[in-house]
Order: sequence, then C-alpha cells, then structure tokens
Amino acid sequence: GKSGYDHYMLKEIHEQPNAIRKCLRERVTEMDATVSVSELDELDHDGPVQFVACGTSYHASLYGARLLREQGIRAQCFLASEYDTEMQPVGGDTLVIGVTQSGETADTMNALRAANRAGATTLALTNGVGSSAARECDYVMYIRAGPEIGVAATKTFASQQVSLALLTGVLSGQYSSQEIRRLRDLPDQLQRVLDESNARTVAEAYADAEAYFFIGRGYDAPVALEGALKMKEITYKHAEGFAAGELKHGPLALVTENTPVFATITGDANASKTLGNVKEVEARNAPVVAVTDSSSDVAQYADHVLEVPAAGPRFTPILANVQLQLVSYWVANGLGRSIDKPRNLAKSVTVE
Ligand code: F6R
Repeated sequence: GKSGYDHYMLKEIHEQPNAIRKCLRERVTEMDATVSVSELDELDHDGPVQFVACGTSYHASLYGARLLREQGIRAQCFLASEYDTEMQPVGGDTLVIGVTQSGETADTMNALRAANRAGATTLALTNGVGSSAARECDYVMYIRAGPEIGVAATKTFASQQVSLALLTGVLSGQYSSQEIRRLRDLPDQLQRVLDESNARTVAEAYADAEAYFFIGRGYDAPVALEGALKMKEITYKHAEGFAAGELKHGPLALVTENTPVFATITGDANASKTLGNVKEVEARNAPVVAVTDSSSDVAQYADHVLEVPAAGPRFTPILANVQLQLVSYWVANGLGRSIDKPRNLAKSVTVE
C-alpha cells in the first residue's frame, strides 16, 4: 500500500534515505575506508567505460561518467536508442554498463546485446533482480531500491547515483576516507532534506507558470535535466533542463516573468559562473528558485531558496535532486494529475 501517502510517488520519494542505506550496506566499511561490492569481486577492469541508458537512467549515467572521469577513467554516455546507430569504438577492454531500473527497457537491451556482440565486457546496473539485463550481462550490480510503483523514477534514481559512486570506488580503488564518510552520512542528510523541505510552498507559488527551466553546471547539470524530465512527466507542463552555460545560446529567448528558472548551485567549483547565468534570467524578470548548499550567494538573487546540506561536490547534487522531485510532485498534485500513472507512459518500455 501507500502507507498513508496520497501517491506512491510521494511514498517513494520518502523512502530514499532507506533505499540508500540498503544500497550502501556492507559495501562501504568505515574501518578501512574501502568500497567493496561483492557482485563485482571478479571484475578487474581498467579500460574505458561506456554507459548506455534511457530517460532518468541516462541522467544517472551522465552523473556516473563524470565521477569516473574525475578519477582518471575514460567514460562516455550514450542514449541507448542511439548506441547502435553508429559504429562504436568497442574493444575487448571496454566495459559497457547498462543503467536500467527495470532491466527490461528494449532500447537498453538492444545496446547491451550490440556491446556483447562487439566483444565488450558488459555490466547491468539494475533494480530488477533476475531481469533481462541481469541475464544478458557478464556482471550485474543491484541498486537495491526495492519495488518502485510510481511510473516516474525517484528512489531508483538516487539509488543509481549512490551505486555509481560505489562503482567508481571499485573501479578506481581510490576513494578517500572523507568521501566514504560523506557517503555514509548521505541517508541522514537526505532525511533532513525531506523533513525541512519548503518545496510545496515553491510549487504553489509557481503553479500557473507557462514553463519551467532548470539549469546547473558540472555535477549539477544532470540534476537540471532530471528536474525537467520529472516536471514534464507528471505535470504535463513544458519544462526544459540544460547545462547552465547553454542558456545564452538559445533558450534565453523563452525566458519571461512567467517562466521560473530553477538554478541548482552546489559546491563552489562552478558557482560563480552559474550565478552569472542567474543574473541573466533575473534581468529578464524571470522568477529564480535556487537549489543550493549556500556555496554561493545565489540566495541573494533568488525569489525562493530550496536548501540542501553540504555533502561535498560529488554527493550534494543527489540531495538537490530530491528538492526538485518534491517541487514536481506538488505542482502535479495541485493540478490534480494522475501522478502515479501519467498519460502515455509505462513503467517499463519494452518497445524500441
Ligand atoms: C522517468 C522514467 C523513464 C525511465 C526510462 C528508463 O521517470 O521513468 O525515463 O527512466 O524509461 O527505464 P529503465 O531505467 O527501467 O531502463
């Protein structure tokens, strides 16, 4: 059942601290600050990585590829449906990772089969125990999110991100004890976000907006894409997400006082540049909602602030995304949408 929540989506948003706890269990050890994933004990890989995925899982892949590259591992992302439209540079030393919640997505299965035919090593990162992807691949790592009923992916996205952080630890073998501590603290911090979120107020303030824009740079860029996808899926309203720097290359033409801009700024590496983009939209009278850990003075320029605790540059974006899930949920709820089963969408997309 929905355990007292009006929708599975809201229940699943609130299950995220526990989902992440389960994902981390016995995989990070405080004692020696190591990451170990028993399913991957036999995996000894140091070649390039290619991700194949769709939708929300693709956004998780963008995040995962960035984590790997930061550790010096070559990593690329492909939309699964595009993967075999061109020859991919796949060798025996390539690890192709299918990120798929259900493990049944036809596009992703197709890409994984192509990778297997090309002689790559394949890995399924999935929630689907015994799923098609799990069976197709040489290796499988489970994200352990538990069943997700809402069509819009929420807790599985967080569990994918945490799993990708673990996978990065396994492949690079070089996580610091500080990073491990941050991972272990993440469930409690996520709980704080849920307990203290003012997302409902923000949603109510902008329920009549014409469109919603989401921007972010670096690790915050996938958050922007995911924020927009969730918004359009469950509210049926126009939403777009992009890397903050792209704003001035076209989308800025659409920005008006009726298009709130959600700017995610976490960590200070890219804060000042994204702040510059925020000033550009402010000058066009667009309402600004900052999703931030206070690493910049964006709050000064924002009409609303959705705050998140600081969990370091890699993990704070996981917390920021939860605020945007809640905003979408409350906008959709206000509009009386069919939140758990949006029109035209299916939980598992088994056609190409
Ligand atoms: C978004 C959503 C879809 C899925 C996509 C891939 O909320 O649910 O975009 O993420 O269809 O599905 P999986 O991860 O099962 O391969």
